[in-house]
Amino acid sequence: MPAQERRPIVAGNWKMNTTLSEAIQLASDVREPLATLAGVESVLCPPFISLAAVRDAVAGSPVALGAQNCHFEAKGAFTGEVSPAMLADLSCQYVIVGHSERRALFGEDDALVGRKLRAAQAHGLSVILCVGENLEQRESGQTDAVVGGQARGALEGLEASAWDRLVIAYEPVWAIGTGRAATSAQANETIGAIRRVVADLAGEEIAGRLRIQYGGSVTPANAAELFAQPEIDGALVGGASLKAVDFVAICRAAAT
Ligand code: 13P
Repeated sequence: MPAQERRPIVAGNWKMNTTLSEAIQLASDVREPLATLAGVESVLCPPFISLAAVRDAVAGSPVALGAQNCHFEAKGAFTGEVSPAMLADLSCQYVIVGHSERRALFGEDDALVGRKLRAAQAHGLSVILCVGENLEQRESGQTDAVVGGQARGALEGLEASAWDRLVIAYEPVWAIGTGRAATSAQANETIGAIRRVVADLAGEEIAGRLRIQYGGSVTPANAAELFAQPEIDGALVGGASLKAVDFVAICRAAAT
């Protein structure tokens, strides 16, 4: 599928930011401007405790709701965890899994990420799977091997119909929260490498259809150049998604 036929997706990962009232305010501020944009899908991923309120704040608009993490079980004795069944019941459409902060700070490995991904999909959620290399890995030429390994580790054996409920976010660890985004050429090249891994796992047709975002210090200033690259299908946005005008500007840069 030619790149222009993949609808870009821009998701705001609010991480552990916003109180309930701040979350409602931010969602309300982006709702109308985002509703006027065509050719881009926008998603808000607030903290768990604000999901229901953000859902209500964007109800009736095309803005989608996403969570930042989930457990792999539907319910049970897992103190402090949130299940995919709960997220689906809240009208979440998306859940992020395998974010580098969860891999690095909470010890999540590819096997766990793969379990979460399958569980989320089994409850009807679409998954945003994050992959990305750290600086040492990039500088020693291991980028494609690292991101390819993460993709294979989580996606190997995925059934054909499940690929339609998947987005991959390429987020180089060294670009997250640093103000130092990958160049558009670097992002395009690595996303191309990820797409070749997907082609190997699932075939050319699925690989051509799969949306692969870039994430890491995306701002209104660099968004348009990133989105002009043929492999890049939108963005996963951290810091800039906490400012309504900036998130709207990034979504606008991806719109037709
Ligand atoms: P920043 O946009 O703050 O660099 O964060 C990117 C990110 O981790 C999104 O998931």
